[in-house]
Amino acid sequence: MDLKELISKDKLPRHIAIIMDGNGRWAQNRGSMRLFGHQNGVESVRQVVEAAGELGVEYLTLYAFSTENWNRPRSEVDALMGLMVTSIQNETESLHKNNVKLSAIGELDDLPPTVKKQLQSAIDYTSENTGLNLVIALSYSGRWEITSAIKKIAEEVKNGDLDPENIDTCMLETYLNTYTIPDPELLIRTSGERRISNFMLWQLAYTELYFTTVFWPDFRKKHLYEAIIDFQRRDRRFGRVKTQTGVATVNN
Ligand code: IPE
Ligand code: IPE
Ligand code: MG
Repeated sequence: MDLKELISKDKLPRHIAIIMDGNGRWAQNRGSMRLFGHQNGVESVRQVVEAAGELGVEYLTLYAFSTENWNRPRSEVDALMGLMVTSIQNETESLHKNNVKLSAIGELDDLPPTVKKQLQSAIDYTSENTGLNLVIALSYSGRWEITSAIKKIAEEVKNGDLDPENIDTCMLETYLNTYTIPDPELLIRTSGERRISNFMLWQLAYTELYFTTVFWPDFRKKHLYEAIIDFQRRDRRFGRVKTQTGVATVNN
């Protein structure tokens, strides 16, 4: 039986987030430069975007570059930024044809102007689309995001525009980059690493975590289906007991 047919349409995760890891090791295993792995990862992005769109997933967030990744060798950072520009350039039309709406989270001001410009034009070009919401996390880290939110809140308190009494979790969420996006229900990390690496620290509070040893450049639609099937077999309790499940979630 086709794996896709094992997926229950009525229990689809609304939001899937992916830490796309293992490009460097994939390339090194082939005796190639790390960049070759990054280049091959673009096809995996195409596959998951297409698969998520076909299934009817509402949001797909892809961790493409972390705040900490700026500390990699300059040559790798430059190569990754170059790849970002060409990939966005090459993929925008097909994203648009597939009704995908692109957005980005992260400290986008830190990106080279060429990347920022290309990204913004792809975001604008796809802004009216109503299908899959594709969110690219670029120069993003969870701690950076929470710190930025706290700074904005502190500024408003200082100016007398906000009473600390009114700060609660729902309100804090409105200061995050993701404030219009529901929390991920499923997080996938490839390459065998079992850590979060500063990704969506706030939003992952009740996310189901799925780790696979597949390196990102080898990740295909069937791997996404496997992760979703695994997710659908889980019992999500949100701190309650089993008989109460389905009553509420933490945020929506
Ligand atoms: C993920 O692959 C891509 C980015 C972090 C930009 P890596 O480059 O981390 O590959 P490994 O983990 O070193 O194999
Ligand atoms: C996490 O991968 C960041 C992205 C996939 C963009 P890393 O490869 O940078 O994470 P660590 O260093 O293994 O924790
Ligand atoms: Mg890595």
